[in-house]
Amino acid sequence: MSASALSTPADVPAPRPRLTPWPAPRASQGQVGAACQPYSAHYPLALALQGRRAIVVGGGQVALRRVRGLLESGADVVVIAPEIDAELAALPVTVLRRRYSDGDLSAAWLAHAVTSDRSVNAAVAAEAERNRIWCVRADDAQASAAWTPAVARHGEVTVAVTAGGDPRRARQLRTAIEVALADGTLPVRRRRPGQAPAGHVALIGGGPGDPELITVLGRRLLAEADVVVTDKLAPRALLARLDPDVEVIDAGKAPHAHNLTQDQINHLIIARALAGQRVARLKGGDPFVFGRGGEEALACVRAGVPFRVVPGLTSAIAVPAYAGIPVTHRGITQDFAVVSAHLDPSHPGATVDWESLARGPGTLVLLMAVAHLDRVAAELIKRGRDAATPVAVIRDGTMPGQQVLTSTLGDLAADAERADVMPPAVVVIGEVVRLRETLGAA
Ligand SMILES: C[S@@+](CC[C@H](N)C(=O)[O-])C[C@H]1O[C@@H](n2cnc3c(N)ncnc32)[C@H](O)[C@@H]1O
Repeated sequence: MSASALSTPADVPAPRPRLTPWPAPRASQGQVGAACQPYSAHYPLALALQGRRAIVVGGGQVALRRVRGLLESGADVVVIAPEIDAELAALPVTVLRRRYSDGDLSAAWLAHAVTSDRSVNAAVAAEAERNRIWCVRADDAQASAAWTPAVARHGEVTVAVTAGGDPRRARQLRTAIEVALADGTLPVRRRRPGQAPAGHVALIGGGPGDPELITVLGRRLLAEADVVVTDKLAPRALLARLDPDVEVIDAGKAPHAHNLTQDQINHLIIARALAGQRVARLKGGDPFVFGRGGEEALACVRAGVPFRVVPGLTSAIAVPAYAGIPVTHRGITQDFAVVSAHLDPSHPGATVDWESLARGPGTLVLLMAVAHLDRVAAELIKRGRDAATPVAVIRDGTMPGQQVLTSTLGDLAADAERADVMPPAVVVIGEVVRLRETLGAA
């Protein structure tokens, strides 16, 4: 925050004479210039305000909202008011703690008159009008030369809504548009290939399977992609909502039966990004939880390909949650461990410390454990876990076909065999499983 003098621009070229006669501005009280034209005749425009001065006269909540929007656009913001909201004063703006006086707008490209005093707003608007500076009056849409629309932003897409001078109506419409942009029902994909920014890779965690459990950012980047490289456990229902001309490449059909090797996937996403495409690498859960997202990110770094990681809801937490099992619960456990059990504990390559896991008090969440349930249960009991410890095996969690088997560590192998448990499943071991009796029905 700094206080700076407002300079008057020197050598401003005189305006060119108009070619056709122009009606004189109506000068009724509280209205300036041509502000009272029909709403439908307002001319929408997107302003590049980066480094340009915008003056906000007023220091309250409306000013705060306006200033935030101006700062998002990179404007050089000056706030003038005798009293200024503390949150507003803390923003990177120039603050002048005094009343507005004529001439304050001299260096401005844009002005906002947002005081609670009509006469001050009118004076600001009048100075703006004289100097051909666009001015937004918060107190009187009719008398305002310019309006601030309600804005929905979605990556490079900006939608601005005005609604006949009714800001609540505009905001409601904006919210509906935001929802439609976020859920991918609107065609946000770029249509001009090669247009900046260049190709890149988004490593998107798609969540545990329910298509509504992807993040807003993940959903947006998926909707903007030129090519989608998907895993078996990604939320595949979302693929049906892509543009028909988006290429979808299936990188994994079934566990342990990958269509493409990891090296092939790395090469593929890099080659497509280098060719200028936006690549969405859609994964189940979180990309960095047993998702090999780290390997793909490293491959991008080595190839000099821009990428971003979009975290996702990991099945390790979300699948138990959907089944009514919190992985921690006050009074029951304060810790939990997430373990890959894709190897039999007796396998020479297994690095999991089953001894510590068996002796620890916390919840164990096992992924990729279905093939070795009997061996894992036996190992934990052998190393000290109580055979009566409750266990839940949740198959196809968060999906319409979700199935939950509850058992104990001692009975797990027999119960799972009888129920013919198949992957994908999350196994939860610990006292928290008992909460499902109450929370599972919710
Ligand atoms: C290779 S790991 C990927 C984990 C993923 N990155 C995550 O954060 O959830 C695959 C394992 O996740 C678990 N899994 C993923 N989605 C699941 C779902 N909807 N229901 C049950 N288990 C699931 C299973 O244990 C499956 O074998």
